[in-house]
Amino acid sequence: MSLSDVIARLPPGSPEALLARQIDGDRLPAHVAIIMDGNGRWAAQRHLPRVEGHRSGITSVREAVETSARLGIPVLTLYAFSIENWKRPRTEVSALMALLRRYLRSELHMLMEHGIRFRVVGRKDALSPEIQKELSDAERATAAHTGMQFNIALNYGGRAEIVDAVRAIVASGVSADKVTEKTVQSHLYIPEMPDPDLVIRTSGEARLSNFLLWEVAYSELLLSDVLFPDFRRDHLFDAVRQYQRRDRRFGAV
Ligand code: IPE
Ligand code: IPE
Ligand code: MG
Repeated sequence: MSLSDVIARLPPGSPEALLARQIDGDRLPAHVAIIMDGNGRWAAQRHLPRVEGHRSGITSVREAVETSARLGIPVLTLYAFSIENWKRPRTEVSALMALLRRYLRSELHMLMEHGIRFRVVGRKDALSPEIQKELSDAERATAAHTGMQFNIALNYGGRAEIVDAVRAIVASGVSADKVTEKTVQSHLYIPEMPDPDLVIRTSGEARLSNFLLWEVAYSELLLSDVLFPDFRRDHLFDAVRQYQRRDRRFGAV
């Protein structure tokens, strides 16, 4: 699949097709990361329990994964549960974990069909043994895939990732004067992962909330007012289109 295949499948002349046509298929971001936010507010607007917002967000996840894979984006990372999200009521945390399990079960065939490689970033060992097993099974089943890499950030914290990297570096016995940025990079959760070119946050909040702190050093940030359950492929097309208009300088002129 590629951008032209994606465009060919969209209703001709539709707003989505018009947006997709403005994307340059040769300059796609190598890595798109999404801070999926606003599920609770989406539910509150409808006088529904918060968990209904999370449930509805599954459709947006599905669409983001399929659309990114079809566009030919090499890596997509979705922030699903932060280390700080344990502060939420137990019932909400359990509902989120149950939804994650249901998602994995229902989507594995789609990941197989699209040749998507699934990975988890975060402190997996603090999750329940059943969830750990399902995550590891999905990682194993898709390990040889060469299509898009789909990372889910779960029990993830950017500071925790840096702490874990520092611990691993210290344990490796390397002397302090030999530690470089490359040393740190090579001890991150997925060392070979390219930095996100584009970070999208939905729901109008303008903060990183401890997401990929090392990796976002030069990412382009795109803040969308859309609540995550309303996030559809046209929003993704628009984000990529806006990203391609940015002037990235990396400190140079
Ligand atoms: C994002 O939506 C989902 C997770 C953080 C798991 P929220 O649950 O944070 O929704 P708001 O921000 O309260 O609207
Ligand atoms: C960030 O959203 C975490 C995820 C999307 C998983 P939060 O809703 O937890 O962030 P804050 O608390 O508003 O910063
Ligand atoms: Mg939130």
